[in-house]
Amino acid sequence: MAEVEVLRDAAVLIDGPRIAWVGARAEAPRADQVTEVTGVILPGMIDCHTHGVFGAPRLDDHQRRALGEDYKAIAAAGGGILQSVRDVRARSEAELEALTRTRLATLLAHGTTTIEVKSGYGLELEAELKQLRVIRRLAETQPATLVPTFLGAHEVPPEHRGDRAAYVRLLCEEMIPAVSQGGLARCCDVFCEPGVFSPAEARTILGAAKRHGLALKLHADELEGSGGAELAAELGALSADHLAAVSDAGVRALAASGTVAVLLPATMVFLGKKGQAPARRLIEAGAAVALATDFNPGTSPTMSLPLVMALGVSQLGLRHAEALTAVTVNAAAALGLAGERGQLAPGFAADLVVAAVEDWREAAYWMGANVVSAVWTGGSACPTPTVPVS
Ligand code: NIG
Ligand code: FE
Repeated sequence: MAEVEVLRDAAVLIDGPRIAWVGARAEAPRADQVTEVTGVILPGMIDCHTHGVFGAPRLDDHQRRALGEDYKAIAAAGGGILQSVRDVRARSEAELEALTRTRLATLLAHGTTTIEVKSGYGLELEAELKQLRVIRRLAETQPATLVPTFLGAHEVPPEHRGDRAAYVRLLCEEMIPAVSQGGLARCCDVFCEPGVFSPAEARTILGAAKRHGLALKLHADELEGSGGAELAAELGALSADHLAAVSDAGVRALAASGTVAVLLPATMVFLGKKGQAPARRLIEAGAAVALATDFNPGTSPTMSLPLVMALGVSQLGLRHAEALTAVTVNAAAALGLAGERGQLAPGFAADLVVAAVEDWREAAYWMGANVVSAVWTGGSACPTPTVPVS
């Protein structure tokens, strides 16, 4: 993770949607067709964990936390995820699409060209499908590549609070089959956390997802440890995400598996928590670490992977090179796209970002300022990124 190859006076040859050649500018084929770029070219960044389809920001949660209430107390008092669920259920599909379109444009303007987007604010068949259809339409009509994930197991909805087993059955027997038949999601995720879904419930739900051809992801050991990392590794999940409370056994299990450890430092900062996932222990044990925004209205309203990289350096102790690997190569692996995206190399998707800086490490340095000056996806230049307000 700590090795990146830096070329000076370099050129990238794009052929259709892919990169055909990378090397010294003096040796570039078709030197007559050059677009001059000043700055540093990076692979388009990959945000492998977002909850990008939602309605309003959750400002009341934000203020209650400032006044000393914690995430779980706020959720128990009717805020939290269920607040966003009421909102998404009530909104029209067109309105959700318009809101999400603006937010994806902001992510893209910060250099993110591939975005995983989860459902999980519907928690009933039709409202979950509504979110996934929004993602599908946006995948077809805006320049970033979207990877849709079904997160019907984000919380137990109010109407099933008296019988959680019935909701787990609904997920496995109706919702997962419908999502899979509609081709509406690539992955399935579960919020495995004491008080939300137990490891046994997560195992049942992910088992159904696997049978229906979905790749697996898991919100694991975010606030309290419950063996989520071990479960993700055992099931061959693409990723185990959060991991602030991962156990030593969980670290070992991830290191011995192909499951990527996706760390979300902005979430812990926004929640005002002191603890962060043990990134160095994970890396030194041999786990693959990725970074993501966790963009969502409750715990992480940031749309900037460069900000998350800076937090990776300052909060998790990552080297700049590790932070860059974490939002490119390893983030691609967390989405099952390691052979296609996240590298400036022949055969890879021509998703490129230009940062208006002199040293590539500045991509993880200017905390909160956007240094991205140009973006290409699939070989085409995106409209000049002016950061839209969300
Ligand atoms: O990743 N942990 C669960 N889900 C989100 C929070 C979503 C929300 O609060 O709306 C997370 O932090
Ligand atoms: Fe999340």
